[in-house]
Amino acid sequence: MSRAATVAEAVATLNRGELVIVPTETVYGLAADARDPAAVARIFEAKGRPRFNPLIAHVADLVAAEAVATFDPLSLNLAEAFWPGPLTLVVPARTGGVCDLARAGLETVAVRVPGHPLLLELLQRFGGPVAAPSANRSGRPSPTTYADAVDETGAHAAIALDGGPCAVGVESTVVAVIDGRARLLRPGGLARAEIERVAGPLLTTNEDAHRSPGRLALHYAPAAPVRLNAEAPQAGEAFLAFGPCAWHGEGVWNLSARGDLREAATNLFAYLRAADRTAPAAIAVAPIPEHDLGEAINDRLHRAAGYIG
Ligand code: TXA
Ligand code: MG
Repeated sequence: MSRAATVAEAVATLNRGELVIVPTETVYGLAADARDPAAVARIFEAKGRPRFNPLIAHVADLVAAEAVATFDPLSLNLAEAFWPGPLTLVVPARTGGVCDLARAGLETVAVRVPGHPLLLELLQRFGGPVAAPSANRSGRPSPTTYADAVDETGAHAAIALDGGPCAVGVESTVVAVIDGRARLLRPGGLARAEIERVAGPLLTTNEDAHRSPGRLALHYAPAAPVRLNAEAPQAGEAFLAFGPCAWHGEGVWNLSARGDLREAATNLFAYLRAADRTAPAAIAVAPIPEHDLGEAINDRLHRAAGYIG
């Protein structure tokens, strides 16, 4: 892939049933026409992704969302409050909206209006839903820069759009709204507290029945082992610090020297990748507070470390 594509080229590529790497405000995605099962099948092949794991349909606005899904008053409130933005809503699917393969055969569909101007322009001009998982190979950290995205899945995409580094840096928060009740399926770039201001307390559960099918144990994982809640690096370890600390220099990346969780989320995957490229004995990570975007950061770190089943 020698150069970044234009939006017009991206529209033509999606119309041909081929794959396009797209920027979002959260992480880069690997995109296809969500109505076209052959195109969607290419995504599963490119990522080595199990077919029981459904994809998110990205749409330009609420009107386009209503063409693929049905909204009740609660999901409508959430959409109006947070779109465009890092919130994915799992809601009942409309027949004929998104193909069965993209939904992994479920009667629900995950939908979001992304907050990235280049992708919004593409979605408006394309005029249909675009299925896009994160543009990493399955089980690897999500790419948050154009270069990392092309490195991960560029060989499978016809072209790539360069939207610069992702502002949020972790994937969208996934909330299911079924039968008038909102349930957190995946913490992400929109903090739980913000959603609860609109939806009231979110249901959460570890029961398999309510799990997001994609929440596999070892996910977002670098090649090196990951050691969490480390106060200091040991010999041979890379170190991801957080907040003011005594550790600096080679082999140390500070997710946010001023202790800002938004900044830490933005840097998380890029620093995991940078640390991993030095082939350390392990990647030690400082404790991260659990509030605000810390919930999503700790979720991804626990998966990278293989702690969550
Ligand atoms: O920020 C993001 O969400 C990025 C960008 C590219 O938009 N996308 C992303 O997609 O993270 P992916 O495929 O890596 O994660 C989608 C998550 C998976 O955990 C999947 O299982 C869940 O959403 N999901 C999709 N459809 C679902 C459904 N109908 N019911 C429950 N979970 C669903
Ligand atoms: Mg992913």
